[in-house]
Amino acid sequence: MSLQVLIVYQSRSGATLQLVESLVAGIESASDLVDVEITTVTRSALLGTSKDVRSADALVIATPEHFGSMAGATKVFFEEIWAGCLDQTQGLPWQLLVKAGTDGAQTAEGVQKLAKAQGWKQFRPPLLVVGDLTETALSSAFELGQLLAVSLDNELI
Ligand SMILES: Cc1cc2nc3c(=O)[nH]c(=O)nc-3n(C[C@H](O)[C@H](O)[C@H](O)COP(=O)(O)O)c2cc1C
Repeated sequence: MSLQVLIVYQSRSGATLQLVESLVAGIESASDLVDVEITTVTRSALLGTSKDVRSADALVIATPEHFGSMAGATKVFFEEIWAGCLDQTQGLPWQLLVKAGTDGAQTAEGVQKLAKAQGWKQFRPPLLVVGDLTETALSSAFELGQLLAVSLDNELI
C-alpha cells in the first residue's frame, strides 16, 4: 500500500521552499517508523491541478504572506482546483505552512476559510513562521512532516 502527500507551495525568495524541504525530509525520515510507503509530490502553486489534489491522501499548502493575504500564486491554485475538487475531496487531511515577514495571520485565516469550504480536515494548526527563518522553524517543519507520516500510517487522520 502506498499513500501520497501532495505539497503545493509558492516561494519567491526561497524561505517557504526551505520549510517545504524540511517537511519533506521529515516525512522521508519516518520511513523506518511506518508500515506503508509514503510518497511526496511537490508542486509549484501555479502548476497544481484538481487531479493532483484528488489523487492525494493528504495535502500540504505552503505559502508566503503577500500584501496581507496568501501569495497570488496560492490564490491561483485555489481558483484552478476549486470546481474540480468541490464535493470530491471532502475529508482530505491538510496542513498549512505560512511564511511571513511580520504577520501571517490573515493568510492563515484566508486559506483556512477556503479549505473549510472544500470540506478538508485540518491536521494541525498552521505552522506560522514570522521573520527570519531559524533552525527552530526548520525543525518544526521537519517534525510536522514526521508526525504527518506517522499519523497517516496509523490512520489517525
Ligand atoms: C511583494 C511582497 C509582499 C509582502 N507582503 C507581506 C505582508 O503583507 N505581510 C508580511 O508579514 N510579510 C509580507 N512579505 C514578506 C514575505 O512574506 C516574507 O519575506 C516571506 O519570507 C517570503 O517568503 P519566500 O522567501 O518563500 O518568498 C511580503 C513580501 C513580498 C515580496
